Amino acid sequence: MNIRKIREDFSILQKDSKNPLIYFDNACMTLRPRQVIESINEYYEEYPVCALRSHHKLSRLATEKVDVARKEVQKFISAKKRNEVIFTKNTTEGINLIANTLNLKGGTILTHDKEHNSNHVKWVDMVNKGIIKHKIVDTNEDGTFNLENFENKIDKDVKLVSMGHISNLDGVEIPLKEIIKITHDNGAKILVDAAQSVPHKEINVKKLGVDFLAFSGHKMLGPTGTGVLYVNEKNYEEMEGFVLGGETVKDAKYGSFEYEEPPMKYEAGLQDYSGQIGLAAASRYLSRIGMKSIAKQEEKINKIITEGLIDSVELIGPKDHKLRSGIFNFNIKNMDPHIIAGMLDSSRNIAVRSGAHCVHSWFNKLHLQGSVRASTYFYNTEEEAEIFSNEVKKLIELNK
Ligand code: ALA
Repeated sequence: MNIRKIREDFSILQKDSKNPLIYFDNACMTLRPRQVIESINEYYEEYPVCALRSHHKLSRLATEKVDVARKEVQKFISAKKRNEVIFTKNTTEGINLIANTLNLKGGTILTHDKEHNSNHVKWVDMVNKGIIKHKIVDTNEDGTFNLENFENKIDKDVKLVSMGHISNLDGVEIPLKEIIKITHDNGAKILVDAAQSVPHKEINVKKLGVDFLAFSGHKMLGPTGTGVLYVNEKNYEEMEGFVLGGETVKDAKYGSFEYEEPPMKYEAGLQDYSGQIGLAAASRYLSRIGMKSIAKQEEKINKIITEGLIDSVELIGPKDHKLRSGIFNFNIKNMDPHIIAGMLDSSRNIAVRSGAHCVHSWFNKLHLQGSVRASTYFYNTEEEAEIFSNEVKKLIELNK
């Protein structure tokens, strides 16, 4: 992988300044290469019209491009059929779609204790409304998954296991294959929040045998407001409609209507066609680089940061960098995380995220205010990792 060449695709990394941007906020949102931006522009310049509806040639072209985009996303996650790919706004919408369309009434939902709000708040709301029960698997103290706790919690009342695959908090991956097998052995379905895994490693939904898998475009070089919900097609017959309106029906009378087939059934109203096309361009870009090379580069960067800082900070997650994907999340004793993030930003133009990272429930459990998270991607360099470690060390010295 030629990082220098890759970085030329990201104009914001090319800006000539005394302190070039060091972008370590990739778990929140990645940057976009010019290929993605060009694909969006192409839509607006060449066929800026409605797909699927009209019969003029521009609309037919837009329809064809959206079809191809769906096919590319299908290929990217190795789904069996194109109709298993529903375009959404983001992971959150995908998870909410399942919560609103599966018959979960009276059943138990099983999650773990480091879920992002996107895979937590909706379940709590449904518990408060008396619709479902919710059980939470405790992870180990170092953040690694506790399969024994999971096996103890799952029972025949569990209708849905809904788990974050790679944590946006500490980068820890759950043992998905084992979890899927245990889930299905217990007669439940599994929904995977793959927002932090699809951008960073190869995901083959067919091989995994998941029922549902949700991810976001903006964390994998794609446009904001784009995402995907993968549904194993055998589950469609059990799913109700959700947002209803244009394109979700084949026909309607004053007192009745007939649903369209999925995925159209779940893509109500005019869609973000340029976004869908941009998301496909992002998956093409990632495939060209290779998911294995991407994971390897993140590991290399995280190793440098970990070796530089592990003895000086309070780390969240396991010590072994290999278990934390591209994430280094930490606190400095007696220092406010937002102040640390602000100082890194103003001293060396380093962008990190501070706060609770949308995992408020975990921070509340531990009575922690927040933390500082550096999250890397394949376009980050070893030099950036060194600069970051040195800057954090300077802050620690300053605070002594
Ligand atoms: N999930 C995003 C993050 O972790 C918002 O920063």
